[in-house]
Amino acid sequence: MLPWFQDGNFPLYLAPMAGFTDIGFRKLCKEKGADVVVSEFVLADAILRGDPKTWNSIEFTEDQRPMGIQIFGSEADVMADAARMIVDRLNPTFIDLNFGCPAKKVTCKNAGSSLLRDLPLLGNICESVVKALPDCPVTAKIRIGWDGESLVAPEAGRLLESVGIQALAIHGRTKAQGYKGDANWDIINETAAEISIPVIGNGSINYQYDIRELRERYQVNGLMIGRAAIGNPWLFENLKSLLETGEPSSPPSVEERWDYVLRYAEIMRGHYAHLRTDMILGIMKGRLVSFVAGFPGARKLRNRISRLQSFEEIHELRDESLVTLRELGTSVV
Ligand SMILES: Cc1cc2nc3c(=O)[nH]c(=O)nc-3n(C[C@H](O)[C@H](O)[C@H](O)COP(=O)(O)O)c2cc1C
Repeated sequence: MLPWFQDGNFPLYLAPMAGFTDIGFRKLCKEKGADVVVSEFVLADAILRGDPKTWNSIEFTEDQRPMGIQIFGSEADVMADAARMIVDRLNPTFIDLNFGCPAKKVTCKNAGSSLLRDLPLLGNICESVVKALPDCPVTAKIRIGWDGESLVAPEAGRLLESVGIQALAIHGRTKAQGYKGDANWDIINETAAEISIPVIGNGSINYQYDIRELRERYQVNGLMIGRAAIGNPWLFENLKSLLETGEPSSPPSVEERWDYVLRYAEIMRGHYAHLRTDMILGIMKGRLVSFVAGFPGARKLRNRISRLQSFEEIHELRDESLVTLRELGTSVV
């Protein structure tokens, strides 16, 4: 069993999210209590091509372990070769295989969630990757099915376990649902009941969820949090406290949230030191916007962030934002 599930541990995963779970954000989430983090998905072919942007997006620091790198693709040998290359170069804690992405540009190549319609190929891919990596665990992430007529999660779960996948994250929605509607935790539960590898439940967990109830009611071995963590790395601390004491920890003040923004910017600046400032800021802007969501004057802040030209301006924005807050007489949002 993967060590982070041993001894009754109930890990909280940061979900892989393209465009958000970069090295800086993963680091902040880890510091705030995420037990396991996963890179955004990368195309196996791009890995083999040596695409620099792709390789850059999966780099990590040792303090992020256990750290998974997620790949996607539709050909067993390409996936196996890409996984092997990543393990040889970066030695992640595990490789994760994506069978959940609903985006058309992915499914039209028969990758991501499209493979839920072709379980024999899905099984082949997993088997090839597992065989290529005798020295590194392989996990997978699926949706519950392509649409409401084909809820294949239990069948896929059995197959994945039989070919050596060591843990399975299940997003409780179909491909057809996209990101809307309720996650179906009953199917997650049904799948977990049928297999003995750890199952990580995923879908719409946020501050409002009673995750203690999720833990008690369903046979999941851990939970994965996606959108609610965007811009809110402290959510993990909050949920951990809820799990352990029944009470969520208090949210950070705006001052503290700005500290996260500045730290995030510094981590990214360090990681991308080889790039020009405008390029680093270009990578960061969307993510910075997510950090200031809900701040007083958020719209103005968003505009200013979209026009950022230097790191110093981020400090100026912080100072101005705190003056506004003082004028409003508040420190929480
Ligand atoms: C912007 C965005 C990017 C995502 N990128 C990935 C990805 O790269 N790999 C993956 O397996 N899932 C990806 N997902 C799906 C999430 O990992 C997660 O399964 C989904 O958001 C449901 O969890 P949530 O309701 O907690 O957000 C992405 C989701 C979002 C919103």
